[in-house]
Amino acid sequence: MGLLTGKTAVVTGAARGIGKAIALKYASEGANIAFTDLIIDENAENTVKELEAFGVKAKGYASNAAVFEEAARVVAEIHKDFGSIDILVNNAGITRDGLMMRMSEQQWDMVINVNLKSAFNFIHACTPIMMRQKQGSIINMASVVGVHGNAGQANYAASKAGMIALAKSIAQELGSRGIRANAIAPGFIMTDMTASLSEEVKTEWAKKIPLRRGGTPQDVADVATFLASDLSSYVSGQVIQVDGGMNM
Ligand code: NAI
Repeated sequence: MGLLTGKTAVVTGAARGIGKAIALKYASEGANIAFTDLIIDENAENTVKELEAFGVKAKGYASNAAVFEEAARVVAEIHKDFGSIDILVNNAGITRDGLMMRMSEQQWDMVINVNLKSAFNFIHACTPIMMRQKQGSIINMASVVGVHGNAGQANYAASKAGMIALAKSIAQELGSRGIRANAIAPGFIMTDMTASLSEEVKTEWAKKIPLRRGGTPQDVADVATFLASDLSSYVSGQVIQVDGGMNM
């Protein structure tokens, strides 16, 4: 039996990258997977097939996590299709970097809406279901820059700090209902999101990592599996850094 057998997980923004790695790891541990992304294209359909190969139920849903009504609608649809929601991973995220002096209101709003409001949207829609089930695990994908801040990423860092405080608050509000909430703060993880960074930036990051390598999506997925499973049944309101020991 897998660590997540019989559970249903919702993972936002999981057509690729860290979200996809989490969905695959969860499926390998026996969870049924409902994932969302902006579009469900051929690539996302291939992800569905990879998930189904583990012998679990899997479906991709096109949904903009930043839009409140869309999130409510897709959660209702997932609940109808899967019958339960035991794990929620708020993973969808974007960057629109820039120094504060040059940051537009649009850059600020986009990042806050996609990275932080999306988590509110999904938590708002999923927690009534989890409360009826008397159990649930919520995982917010934050970032080390949400803990330490980062020049040139004020919008992103603020959104990720918000993800940590949101998880801690939900842990306090809903712990008595059997719902746990935690945040993961990845460091430098090698995905499409970081592929566009300049070699100079990547070299600077590498110097700060004691383990002397960038992380993989699997490194994050392993911790997300711990937090989703009963192995962490007494862990709530925490933020776990998955960053190779990075000292920012
Ligand atoms: P990625 O860019 O490879 O994947 C993000 C996924 O989210 C994409 O499939 C994208 O289409 C989807 N998405 C974007 N906006 C969306 C929306 N409004 N609604 C639904 N889906 C949406 O990014 P990656 O690297 O896999 O990051 C995943 C999460 O981990 C993000 O929240 C990111 O901020 C966080 N993170 C990543 C780090 C890294 O080094 N790659 C470090 C720390 C945190």
